[in-house]
Order: sequence, then C-alpha cells, then structure tokens
Amino acid sequence: MIKEVEIKTNGGPERILWKERELEKLKPGQVTIEHTFVGLNFIDTYHRSGLYPLPLPTKLGMEGAGIVVDKSSDVNECEIGDRVAYVMALGSYSTKRNIEASKLVKIPDSISDQQAAAVLLKGMTVEYLVERLFKVNNTHTVLFHAVAGGVGLLACQWLKHLGAKIIGTAGTEEKAALAKQNGCDEVILYKSENFVEKVKYLTNDVGVDVVYDGVGKDTAILGLDCLKPLGTMVVFGNSSGNCPPIDPGLLASKGSLFFTRPTLMTYGTKKKDLLHSSARVFEMLSSNKIKLEINTSYNLSDVSKAHIDLESRKTFGSIVMKNDY
Ligand SMILES: NC(=O)c1ccc[n+]([C@@H]2O[C@H](COP(=O)([O-])OP(=O)(O)OC[C@H]3O[C@@H](n4cnc5c(N)ncnc54)[C@H](OP(=O)(O)O)[C@@H]3O)[C@@H](O)[C@H]2O)c1
Repeated sequence: MIKEVEIKTNGGPERILWKERELEKLKPGQVTIEHTFVGLNFIDTYHRSGLYPLPLPTKLGMEGAGIVVDKSSDVNECEIGDRVAYVMALGSYSTKRNIEASKLVKIPDSISDQQAAAVLLKGMTVEYLVERLFKVNNTHTVLFHAVAGGVGLLACQWLKHLGAKIIGTAGTEEKAALAKQNGCDEVILYKSENFVEKVKYLTNDVGVDVVYDGVGKDTAILGLDCLKPLGTMVVFGNSSGNCPPIDPGLLASKGSLFFTRPTLMTYGTKKKDLLHSSARVFEMLSSNKIKLEINTSYNLSDVSKAHIDLESRKTFGSIVMKNDY
C-alpha cells in the first residue's frame, strides 16, 4: 500500500487529504520511486486552490527525490537502488509512485536527497530565467521580486555569480537581511516603500534591464515603470494572484518593452533541457556558487501546515518535506 494526497474539490489547505491505495502495476518505461524528500513549490498551492485548474480528483506535488525500488524490464536509464530526483511530474505528495524513467535525473554523490528536493525545481527555474530566457551578465541591473523566497534566494546568488547588480524586494526586514547575506545589493521593503520610486532612485532614473516577477497581480504592471527602454519584463508567477491583462500599447508607450510569461514546463522538461538545466544546478551547488537555505521543519504528513505557512508569507528559502510515513 502507498499513501498519497488527493484533492477532490479545490480550496484551502484543508482540502489536502491523504488516502491509502495499492500501487498500480508498472507500465513500460516506468520505475517505482520510494520518496525520501518532497519539494514544496508555490505551484502546488495553485493546483490545490484551482488557480491553475486540473481535472478533479487530482494528485498534488511536482518535485521529489528518492530511491528506485522497482523498474519495468525495458528501462535502461537507471537501476534499482539509484538515488534520483524529478520535477514537473504531478503526484510527488506520496510515499511511493510510478514515474517514467525518462523524467528522472540521477543525484550526484556530493548532493543529498534533501538538497536535491530543495533545489531542483527552483534552481532549474533560476537557470533558465537568468542564463537562457535573458542572458544576464555583469553589465546588467536586475529587479527580482520576493527575493528571500525559495526561487529568490537561489536567484540572488546565481545573479551575483554572473556579476549583475541585484535590486530585490522583500516583505520583512528579516527577509531583507537574509537576501543581503545571499548577495542582493539593495533590498526594497515593498509593503512600506514605493518600489518603483526606489528603483528609479537606486538607478539614477535609468531603470533596470530586466524585472523578474513571481508575485504577479500586485507588482507586474507597476514593474513596467522600473525598466529601461527595450527592457524585459518576465512575469513567471502569481503568488499575489494572476497578472492582469497587458495592453501591447502600454509596452510601446513605456519604451518598446519586451513582456514574457515563461514556464518551466516549456524551458525545462524536454530531455535536452532537463539534462542541461539539472546539471547546471547540481554543478552550481557542488561548487558552492549557490548555497541552500533549507527550512527543514516540515514532514510530509505536515503538508497542509506547510501550505498555510507558504501562502501567508511566513517562509523563506526552500521548503522540503521529509517522507515520515
Ligand atoms: N514559471 C516558472 O517556471 C516557475 C517555476 C517555479 C516557481 N515559479 C513561481 O516563482 C514564485 C516563487 O515560488 P517559490 O515556490 O519560491 O515561492 P516563495 O518565493 O518561497 O514564496 C512566495 C513569496 O511571494 C511573496 N508574496 C508577495 N505577495 C504575496 C501574497 N499575496 N501571498 C503570498 N506570497 C506573496 C512572499 O514573499 P515576501 O513576504 O517577501 O513578499 C512569499 O514568500 C511563485 O510565483 C511561483 O509560482 C514559477
């Protein structure tokens, strides 16, 4: 028997229910993983609430790490006993699961399962945002919202490594201090300060080359005023709600701006991208160019509490949940 989360109706964290069932028979190309650690990502809250609608009932969780405990006879990519991790495969809130072997990456010896589950999805997101979508270098000034969050703290360190000047936003003084320790040059407390005016002040009215915005509704339109002419607005998430529709005329009038709404599904799930991006993330971690701020206080059985804390802006850095069942 396995345990897994099932959402029967969309809503708050109270809709997260555990059920027990038999694990289905392996299909060709699949392996069974026993999870050791499961990553928590903001997208899990969108799937739960229905902001990103999924057919119901649905499983939950997009990231996990663990050990291969069974495999279909046609699978050559991995062996029983291998330590593996994956992203963007619904159903990681479970003790064991079946998954296509093609979606897995092997965890290097230098990296623990806990680190892999804390870094892979968020780190791959940072990799494509700063190295492929917009190739950041040491001539660039960047505005990164919610810079003390899971994606944000990794982005700070990665952008620092690339030599960029980083302006971040954060909800509290404590988060601002943490972002600075992780390489952020300037942090704006956007609950109390006008972040557009502050960015203008910090850039001598020039503006930034690129805005990375995972907050969405509360910041995305305002953020257009932080950009230089020909600047790039990257809205990659909606922690405050969906970004309102953008009139192309607005992009014209504010200086021929570029606007994109990217997803890791597009940038990170084709085999070539998965291998490239995961290898970059593991290499950045192994060489200490990025370090992890892991909030370790959650077990998989505490997942509802972890959702409540993430959505109430209490958390910082990456959240992983230990499989305690
Ligand atoms: N498109 C992609 O490929 C992709 C991939 C991964 C993640 N994402 C997105 O990246 C963003 C960050 O993800 P994460 O998992 O690392 O989460 P996170 O940043 O750890 O948590 C979200 C943060 O957003 C800020 N926030 C601002 N307004 C908020 C509100 N009304 N409610 C809740 N939080 C609010 C909070 O920081 P402050 O307290 O400092 O304001 C909060 O800590 C999310 O939007 C996620 O969907 C996108």
